Amino acid sequence: MRLTTLPFLALFALANASLQQVIALDHELISLHKSLVETESISGNETAVGQFLAEYLAQSGFTVETQTVGRGRENIYAYFGETRNTSVLLTSHIDTVPPYIPYYVFLDRIYGRGSCDAKGSVAAQVIAAKSLYASGEIAEGDLSLLFVVGEEVDGAGMAHASEQLNVSWNNAVFGEPTELKLGVGHKGVYHLDIAVEGKASHSGYPQLGIDANKKLIDILYGIEHAEFPKDDLLGNTTVNVGLIHAGTAGNVVSPHAFAKVLIRVANNAQAVHGIVQSVIDKTGFENVHVEEHQLEEPVYLDYKVPGFNSTVLAYFTDVPNLKREDMGKYLYGPGSILVAHGDDEYVTVSELQGALDGYKDLVRFLL
Ligand SMILES: *[C@@H]1O[C@H](CO)[C@@H](O)[C@H](O)[C@H]1NC(C)=O
Ligand SMILES: *[C@@H]1O[C@H](CO)[C@@H](O)[C@H](O)[C@H]1NC(C)=O
Ligand SMILES: *[C@@H]1O[C@H](CO)[C@@H](O)[C@H](O)[C@H]1NC(C)=O
Ligand SMILES: *[C@@H]1O[C@H](CO)[C@@H](O)[C@H](O)[C@H]1NC(C)=O
Ligand SMILES: *[C@@H]1O[C@H](CO)[C@@H](O)[C@H](O)[C@H]1NC(C)=O
Repeated sequence: MRLTTLPFLALFALANASLQQVIALDHELISLHKSLVETESISGNETAVGQFLAEYLAQSGFTVETQTVGRGRENIYAYFGETRNTSVLLTSHIDTVPPYIPYYVFLDRIYGRGSCDAKGSVAAQVIAAKSLYASGEIAEGDLSLLFVVGEEVDGAGMAHASEQLNVSWNNAVFGEPTELKLGVGHKGVYHLDIAVEGKASHSGYPQLGIDANKKLIDILYGIEHAEFPKDDLLGNTTVNVGLIHAGTAGNVVSPHAFAKVLIRVANNAQAVHGIVQSVIDKTGFENVHVEEHQLEEPVYLDYKVPGFNSTVLAYFTDVPNLKREDMGKYLYGPGSILVAHGDDEYVTVSELQGALDGYKDLVRFLL
């Protein structure tokens, strides 16, 4: 009996010890996540959360650099020792969309603005880096962390880091809500406004006016029915005419018509741009004004890692703002984009813990 109980007890003690460690780590993950979510950081107002995170990282033994992007707005770059260029980068963003929603927990869900997008990723990346370093699995030069401002508005933080940081990496893992799957890629975007000027007249005498609505309808019909490029991975290019303002009254030939068109580009944004242009040109209408807001190519990511599932994403990220061609780019994080910008934004405790393990496994794979 002794012989059988002894190994059993030893095993139990071992399991218990690692359980203690796991609990300690998880506790730190949950409490860091709580502090981050509790610190309001709507895009443009990231000062407080940046200062908090920089101090937290410095106290955790990282070398911390801050990079000023705008007044009081700072990116944070952290690494071990003195080696700024590292094999792997874990990166995410510290700004959120408005409005601020306070932190609260209900059952296994942690609610609050940023809980999912993207402070869940930030917290899990920090604890993953600490834990790999503490266990001796990684050393100076292996891993760095970059947390940027402004992802939710214009990507100014990542663009600034890309241009000014003077650092190189072999692989980067971007943290965004992907439900713990590796993003295969995401569509690009072509966002344009179309404004048509006509001339008002009595609707009984349409020949005296120029009907702006009719012209806009023809153009939008052409765009809706155009053949846009498809992609094997990202699917179809899709068109959304999200807003139309046109005309003045039922009995007046419309003097103006305006539409906002947002095209999600599966393949070749330049070609999509050309197709829209030719649709407009073909009508031969005068007084058609196009204002372009955004033209971005789709992003294709690295996603083949044993033990991970993958997913196609329909939202835009900071990935294209990191202008480095000669490196691997992965996208992975806890939580679902479906709740990310809503009033009920949340992440589950088990997804947060899953992300901690996931980031550690990704770093191990990439080293
Ligand atoms: C900016 O964020 C801080 C906390 O991080 C908050 O106290 C302050 O009210 C915010 N300012 C604005 C103008 O939203
Ligand atoms: C980038 O850093 C290297 C040293 O790592 C230095 O030699 C080089 O001058 C720096 N370049 C710029 C543009 O700062
Ligand atoms: C680090 O990367 C920068 C940017 O690519 C490069 O200029 C520099 O030489 C690298 N430093 C070292 C020590 O390899
Ligand atoms: C893509 O478009 C084709 C028609 O061009 C349609 O048959 C197909 O169902 C679409 N695929 C998806 C995923 O919507
Ligand atoms: C991958 O997806 C399959 C099917 O949904 C699921 O059974 C499996 O647990 C997933 N694997 C991981 C590592 O998430």
